[in-house]
Amino acid sequence: MILSTRRYRFAAAHVLANPALPDDENRRIYGKCANPNGHGHDYGLEVTVTGTVDPVTGSIVPQELLDSIVRERVLDRLSHRMLNADPLFADRVPTAENIALAVRESLEKPLEDAAGVRLVNVRVVETPRNFFDHGEAP
Ligand code: NI
Repeated sequence: MILSTRRYRFAAAHVLANPALPDDENRRIYGKCANPNGHGHDYGLEVTVTGTVDPVTGSIVPQELLDSIVRERVLDRLSHRMLNADPLFADRVPTAENIALAVRESLEKPLEDAAGVRLVNVRVVETPRNFFDHGEAP
């Protein structure tokens, strides 16, 4: 199986707080990340797909096509936005874990339908010290 991974970046802001919890509980769980004014990250995003190598192009998916799907479905939507305001996070706190889930949900079907590839993993890199993978079950 050949895996193809492409890296992207987007800047976005969030507040880590669950509206269902009291303020002091949110501060206890999320620390200063619960500050209601929010804060930003320069997120790294890695999208890994697999598929058949096209005998004509020698590629699993044309890079232009992959880029256009990721741009349209994810980057244009989340870039320079307050993530908490996006319906993708209406029912979940926009942690990097949930960003990875939301990106996977946003890309899985379009990648299959428009590019004929299977999304294997979504990695969201939040800081130099933490990243999160939403991949297939082993
Ligand atoms: Ni943060």
